[in-house]
Amino acid sequence: MKGIVLAGGSGTRLHPVTLPMSKQLLPVYDKPMVYYPLSVLMLAGIRDVLVVSTPATVPALRVLLGDGSALGLDISYAEQREPRGIADAFLVGERFVDGEECALILGDNLFDGPDLPGLLAEARRRVDGCVLFGYEVDDPRRYAVGELDERGNLLSLEEKPARPRSRRAVTGLYLYNKEVVDIAKEVRPSARGELEITDVNRVYLAEGKASLVSMGSEYQWCDTGTCDSLLAAAEYVREAQRSNGRRIACIEETALRMGFVDAETCYKRGLEMRHSEYGRYVMDVARSWSDSRQR
Ligand code: G1P
Repeated sequence: MKGIVLAGGSGTRLHPVTLPMSKQLLPVYDKPMVYYPLSVLMLAGIRDVLVVSTPATVPALRVLLGDGSALGLDISYAEQREPRGIADAFLVGERFVDGEECALILGDNLFDGPDLPGLLAEARRRVDGCVLFGYEVDDPRRYAVGELDERGNLLSLEEKPARPRSRRAVTGLYLYNKEVVDIAKEVRPSARGELEITDVNRVYLAEGKASLVSMGSEYQWCDTGTCDSLLAAAEYVREAQRSNGRRIACIEETALRMGFVDAETCYKRGLEMRHSEYGRYVMDVARSWSDSRQR
């Protein structure tokens, strides 16, 4: 399975902060926002990644992530010249997807929880259409909303409904079968002139091929597109890391634990960043990993 991180858009809800730079490069506590979605794709075992962003931001993302080899990934980049909606990522990325199964994650989504790798592996096994991930929120009107029957089957999907049928927001992580590019091409722009991902998902739903995995309260999900949600996400990350000593979305550590790189490669990445606590953490992780192997 391939993976796309959509790190486009103009971040207007964060102006003036995002006038000179992209939202996905902003820090969420100790690392750039884009690390969080990238780590989720990695935890799903995905190594072939396309980062879609604006022409102005692609160069900065390249500085940050390079070709992915330091993380055992193959990262390529594509430009989205105008924000034409989330589903447009599949038109921009058509050649990259190349008729394979593909995951899509939004560049401002943060996930955390006790067993993301297990949850993602299970979901990957179920992809015979599209798999969505639902999370209960206080204000579902801000999101796409999924309604399930008592057996967990997906009944309806609505984008930012005025009267939501449930509190289950559809998060910005989507797994698709090989048909996704063809379906995205058929979708017509919405009233706001965008190719809505919810319209893609509704095509799958109409064919009986959409499912929604409910993420319980033991998981944490937030998008970080507003000042308050950005601050709340940073506070969450700081507290969670403080209480369990493990960093969330440390992509170097993820690469090591997933077996994408060896301890030496991980250590080198840490060394480049040794003046920060983050860099020293990466070095420590690599050291204890190789110690435990040698024992
Ligand atoms: C987008 C999607 C929405 C989804 C949300 C998750 O909304 O359109 O369906 O629930 O991301 O973050 P946006 O954040 O672009 O308003």
